[in-house]
Amino acid sequence: MNDPAIAGRGTTPPGAGDERQAAAWVKQMFAAVAPRYDFLNHLLSFNVDRLWRAHLLAAVISVLERSSPAVLDLCCGTGDVLIQLQKNTKKAVMGADFCHPMLVEAVRKTSARRLASPLFEADALTLPLRDGSLDLITIAFGFRNLANYEAGLLELVRTLKPGGMLAILEFSHPRSWFMRVSYGLYSRVLLPVIGSVVSGRRDAYTYLPESIGKFPAAPRLKHMMESAGFTEVSFELLTGGIAALHTGRKAAVAHKT
Ligand SMILES: C[S@@+](CC[C@H](N)C(=O)[O-])C[C@H]1O[C@@H](n2cnc3c(N)ncnc32)[C@H](O)[C@@H]1O
Repeated sequence: MNDPAIAGRGTTPPGAGDERQAAAWVKQMFAAVAPRYDFLNHLLSFNVDRLWRAHLLAAVISVLERSSPAVLDLCCGTGDVLIQLQKNTKKAVMGADFCHPMLVEAVRKTSARRLASPLFEADALTLPLRDGSLDLITIAFGFRNLANYEAGLLELVRTLKPGGMLAILEFSHPRSWFMRVSYGLYSRVLLPVIGSVVSGRRDAYTYLPESIGKFPAAPRLKHMMESAGFTEVSFELLTGGIAALHTGRKAAVAHKT
């Protein structure tokens, strides 16, 4: 893909001068909050994150119900989405994340539920998976953290089968003025205070609203997916646009613009 407007763009955490430093910052930040991640997630979202994950599940259920789908939950973190996917399909769902302490939590939670989901440590930009091997990739609240969105999308295109489905659940930008102001106040003022008290890492919870603010708006992400080789791309805004669910399929013959 040669779209100069998006080439080389990804998350830019404080102090990170290049993509390698950005990825390292993200990894150590999630490592630090891993033990309190689930608790804070549900607390800070007033449990609305559970509804958003349910939307994701509903969007991909037709793939899960096939006889033997190859499914990857990328940036699986502590495994909340992975567990829901696994409960709704017969074949083992893979989970991948590059942060070891988050995977440790995922192993603990899947083992407690006797789910045999294979989990592995890997960077989303360089997955240890064969070309065209997956029917479905889900990513919940992970894509925004990638050091390079274009490279991430191309890696997802590479690993999906032609016709394979991608579902990205991610924070987005509230549409109405009222939602923008109230959510802005909450996420930039209250959220860092609560997050820092519970996790001890204020920077993790100032990074969250900052990274959301810089993340492409939903129509832009749709365009990026299409440029990378996805078809039938659509998105649904959730909770007034606080989050968005994008879905698309790898084109039968992937194109590069
Ligand atoms: C906000 S958490 C979301 C976890 C989980 N999907 C959920 O819905 O709760 C983001 C996760 O993405 C992972 N992550 C970020 N960048 C990554 C990358 N380049 N490769 C693999 N995992 C990454 C982080 O380690 C973290 O566990």
